[in-house]
Amino acid sequence: MGNFIFGGCDTVELAKKYGTPLYVVNEDYILDRINEIKRDFLEKYANTMAVYASKAFLTKEMARIIKREGLGMDVVSGGELYTAIKVDFPMDKIIFHGNNKTLDEIEMAVANNVGRIVVDSMYELDLIENTAKKYHKTIKILFRVTPGVETDTHKFIQTGQVDSKFGIPLKDNIIKKAVEKAMACKYIELLGFHFHIGSQIHKNNCYILAVQRILKLIKELRDELGFESRELNIGGGFGIRYSADEERRSLSYFIDPIMDMLERECERNNLRRPLVIIEPGRWIVGEAGITLYTVGTIKEIPGVRTYVSVDGGMTDNPRPSLYQAKYEGLVANKYNEEVVKEVTVAGRCCESGDILIWDLKVPEIEAGDILAVLSTGAYNYSMASNYNRIPKAAVVMVSKGKDRLIVKRESYEDILKNEL
Ligand code: LLP
Repeated sequence: MGNFIFGGCDTVELAKKYGTPLYVVNEDYILDRINEIKRDFLEKYANTMAVYASKAFLTKEMARIIKREGLGMDVVSGGELYTAIKVDFPMDKIIFHGNNKTLDEIEMAVANNVGRIVVDSMYELDLIENTAKKYHKTIKILFRVTPGVETDTHKFIQTGQVDSKFGIPLKDNIIKKAVEKAMACKYIELLGFHFHIGSQIHKNNCYILAVQRILKLIKELRDELGFESRELNIGGGFGIRYSADEERRSLSYFIDPIMDMLERECERNNLRRPLVIIEPGRWIVGEAGITLYTVGTIKEIPGVRTYVSVDGGMTDNPRPSLYQAKYEGLVANKYNEEVVKEVTVAGRCCESGDILIWDLKVPEIEAGDILAVLSTGAYNYSMASNYNRIPKAAVVMVSKGKDRLIVKRESYEDILKNEL
């Protein structure tokens, strides 16, 4: 018998026990990545902080794991913040992002004492100052800036370029005015700067370039305005392995050159090295997840292609249709069988673009087989939809051969529950 084992669990048994489609998340893998962050960043370098970018994958159980491991958490909405509040996540370790936070969300953040709000615009600065005044609180902020660097990733997930909806341009007359304005705010404490240049990045040079640009700004602000930047948040974006031709880089590959350069340049310019914050999401959880599907209809078009349809698709994984993302998969109940053909794995939605994998080599495949798509831990469950009124899949956490349900499968009633 050659079933695919994941997190010590037989995936075919998991599919039987919980049904499909099913997200399976390996807690051991998540802990390995967190331990790498502790060893190669937090313990290696003083004055550092790591927060998990919860948009990649957030459930109450995930928030509990991050809380237990002592990392902070990046949230971008009232919903993500609410999840953190519900598990008593330490609010001082929350960083609140977003390019258009609503007034309600700002109020929620201020009322709950989140550690830092990352301010995206001057409009938002005013909203925060007014809200902080109303609550008689001083709010710690960072400014998000766009360092003007392009990255080696899909254009929909690049965010550091000049032409971006995110952040404040690193242009003298804009950013320096913003800093002056923040310094004059009575209820705001400006700690420093943040950039996030994109996601699924495999090269470290764009981070280095971005840090160099911000360091120049930090020095000028010290010299011209007497402003000391105490924090520098370099965002997330570290790439992972989706297919055989990709590789997940070690954290050190990204971090070490950045920290070396920062230490050196700060010393050279007589600057106190700011607290450095990183915000990985995908790198922590991406390869920790797989999705299990049951194979249904198989359509063979002689000389053209064979479509193997599964019982999920773009509703549980929109990434192939959004970003032409490539995934690897395997037939979980025929794991050791010889590969004999190439098929196209199609989802079940009413969209021709609902294809999960274009060319997958598989053994003889038939209805009822269990197909596992790999590296679906990030931006799958968190981006799932109810298109075609398909209920969202359940999530099971596995660790050392044990499984536990952490999110129940949605029912049809769940889909209707807010309808009048
Ligand atoms: N920090 C900020 C401010 C971010 O905007 C993001 C991601 C992260 C950290 C974490 O990035 P990561 O380490 O996960 O790459 N839905 C897209 C990805 C969008 C990422 C948005 N921001 C995808 O599926 O590829």
